[in-house]
Amino acid sequence: MFKQKVLLILTLLTCVHFLSIAQRTEILLNDGWKFSKGNFTDAASQNFDDRKWQTVQIPHDWAISGPFDKEIDKQVTAITQNGETKPTEKTGRTGALPYIGEGWYRKKLNLPTIKPTQQVLLQLDGAMSEPRVYLNGKLVGEWNYGYNYFYIDITKALQSNDNILAIHLNNKPKSSRWYPGAGLYRNVHLIIKEDKSIEQWGITVTTPVVQTEFAKVNVKTKLNGSNLRLVNEVFDDRNKRIAIDTAKSFFGQESDQNLQVSNPKLWSPESPYLYTLVSKVYDGNVLKDEVKTRFGIRTINFQAGKGFSLNGQVRKFKGVCLHHDLGPLGAATNIAALRRQLTILKDMGCDAIRSSHNMPSPEQLELCDEMGFMFLAESFDEWAKAKVENGYHLYFNTDAEKDIVNLVKANKNHPSIVMWSSGNEVPDQFGAEGVKRAKWLQEIFHREDLTRPVTVGMDQVKATMQSGFGALLDIPGLNYRVHLYEEANKAFPQGFILGSETASTVSSRGVYKFPVVKAKDKQYDDFQSSSYDMEYCSWSNLPDDDFVMQDDKPWVIGEFVWTGFDYLGEPTPYDNSWPSRSSYFGISDLAGLPKDRYYLYRSRWNTTKPTLHLLPHWNWAGREGETTPVFVYTSYDSAELFLNGKSLGIRKKDKTSPQNRYRLMWMDVKYQPGTLKVVAFNAQGKPVAEEKIVTAGKPDRILLSADRDQIKADGKDLSFVTVSVVDKDGNPCPTANQSLKFEVKGAGKFKAVCNGDATSLESFEKPTMKLFSGKLVVLVESDREAGKIQLNVTGKGLKSSSIGISTVN
Ligand code: GAL
Repeated sequence: MFKQKVLLILTLLTCVHFLSIAQRTEILLNDGWKFSKGNFTDAASQNFDDRKWQTVQIPHDWAISGPFDKEIDKQVTAITQNGETKPTEKTGRTGALPYIGEGWYRKKLNLPTIKPTQQVLLQLDGAMSEPRVYLNGKLVGEWNYGYNYFYIDITKALQSNDNILAIHLNNKPKSSRWYPGAGLYRNVHLIIKEDKSIEQWGITVTTPVVQTEFAKVNVKTKLNGSNLRLVNEVFDDRNKRIAIDTAKSFFGQESDQNLQVSNPKLWSPESPYLYTLVSKVYDGNVLKDEVKTRFGIRTINFQAGKGFSLNGQVRKFKGVCLHHDLGPLGAATNIAALRRQLTILKDMGCDAIRSSHNMPSPEQLELCDEMGFMFLAESFDEWAKAKVENGYHLYFNTDAEKDIVNLVKANKNHPSIVMWSSGNEVPDQFGAEGVKRAKWLQEIFHREDLTRPVTVGMDQVKATMQSGFGALLDIPGLNYRVHLYEEANKAFPQGFILGSETASTVSSRGVYKFPVVKAKDKQYDDFQSSSYDMEYCSWSNLPDDDFVMQDDKPWVIGEFVWTGFDYLGEPTPYDNSWPSRSSYFGISDLAGLPKDRYYLYRSRWNTTKPTLHLLPHWNWAGREGETTPVFVYTSYDSAELFLNGKSLGIRKKDKTSPQNRYRLMWMDVKYQPGTLKVVAFNAQGKPVAEEKIVTAGKPDRILLSADRDQIKADGKDLSFVTVSVVDKDGNPCPTANQSLKFEVKGAGKFKAVCNGDATSLESFEKPTMKLFSGKLVVLVESDREAGKIQLNVTGKGLKSSSIGISTVN
């Protein structure tokens, strides 16, 4: 939901602003926080001395600064889901970062006098974890699940002006299967409104009738107070009012209105058109409240024999699963980082995201609405049965219902959300109790939202076929197990199957291993996986196997690849190898740099721009004369490969194997340095595009390129600068691994750095790091004053480089 946001800079000392703002004020409490790890018995009290604590800005992740440590959350366990039977020592399972323990955040709230007719709410978008919220020493609210949104009415606990807000967090060991982050990692909002007003999350917009000529927009509004006048207006994207209606009747505190939008522009990933609903509440003629809600007009339909359609058009999800961490930023939410991820995915042709395995941030959903991504919003990785000792099963019975209610209430107006998920690979797939739980959870979703179906990512496909678990779901989601799709589709009544999780292919950017063979759970001494994209897990498969199902089976409605980006923790296939602390599953690495696999997906998903990508790199000193296969990922059907001008033959995609169908492969190329060139042909056999890779000489100079050279001067916007090294002729050096130094001057600061190497133990927050496969990414953050930022990058034996980024208000 997009609400009126008044972002007041700095602390709440700026009372003047409050007085001048009418009806409703919403403030992000970003600044002026004191933080400390540890257990302090009296940290909630007003008199507690926090002067020695660290001053932090939130969103904040206390664990991302590190250091990495093998001993942190070391788990001696058998991951039964992965087919393990004997316990082994798992290091790095949750990222080897110090997230465990207690932490406190404190902040002074100097509010203006709150009138007796006013109400003050505090909303947390997620806090890791078990937040206990104290105001002036008194417990005012608590929530267990670290991923959920909740709000508290703090009006009664407020003192006239000086107030102390203190939040206690507690992360238990063995509470996660990935890096969860730690602290106030999402936003905290303060909302001041009249008591006669719209309930928080009290507006529900749906579009029950959508035709070419008109759409019926249904608005249900829950009000606090009676005898009020409610006016709802719809504005188009140019801010022109196109519909208005005054509520005629109320049912209890709720009104139900229908507004007509003529010739509606429909929301879709290709054309994410958004309307804005403005809801105004009057007491007599006095405006008491005003809320803006962004929404889209679109239809979704899941039908046996037809599959999924959006706005009447059948399509398949080209989706990726994402964990919530943002690599070197940890779990701390950041709009620039989220937007960059989506920009990278958009270019790949991706059109859908699954927030695995928990509630997404509000910012991510808003960006998906704007940029055009369909969204599968998930809730849990565990129900009543445990995967990890201190996981969500501890709270399931008491909290699951309220967690789902808040997930739906906070997010129901996002056009991007097309599906809910009540769980991922829950061990409750076994047994009759699990079937009951699946039904119970699905009914809660239905009660809260009649417009979207519910899925579960299932891995125990046979069990769910027998028990009725799979049959009762709105959407049967299969995680991997392409060999069971056919059987499941016959067994289940829905008439379609979703690949809720696919591939789990592993690779390290720019790392290639020989010989090139298809392999399960393959390990190497350097703890890297090969970027020939032929390695996967015992429970999973290669991307091409999914493509076959997607292309050949009309009843398969799409896929969500595990994962769009590498994430912290779960370093399979090196779960018990140290140092290895982040995943290898990503299509792009932890720094957001595309691996080769990116181009494999792009070659079929991006239908508007051609793809032609060659691999591996061509710097193999010592491998002269040895077999060095060459792959081409391309949207073209055939291509010819040349090495130093000599043709190595034409390859054309064919159906002799899944790999031959989706990749062009020259398996017997003998390496010699020089130029590798590919020429692609169109359907008529005419050469239409070419790509080449040249054997690079000695690293000579540093190259910098920023994703954005102008950012906002708001103290949190980021520019992501890709750093690479080239030889004297400008050829990229794909194996360069020098250590570099970063210095930021002017209107911003060095924020973080990441090279995408899952085995690196260098800090993300120190301004020095080694290149990995010739590249890394530096994050530069703006200050609050507009100006120029300069990033200088130096490295021994290399010509240094600098780049300018401007910041604007
Ligand atoms: C799935 C699971 C994911 C991740 C993945 C790795 O079974 O749902 O969370 O663990 O395997 O392949």
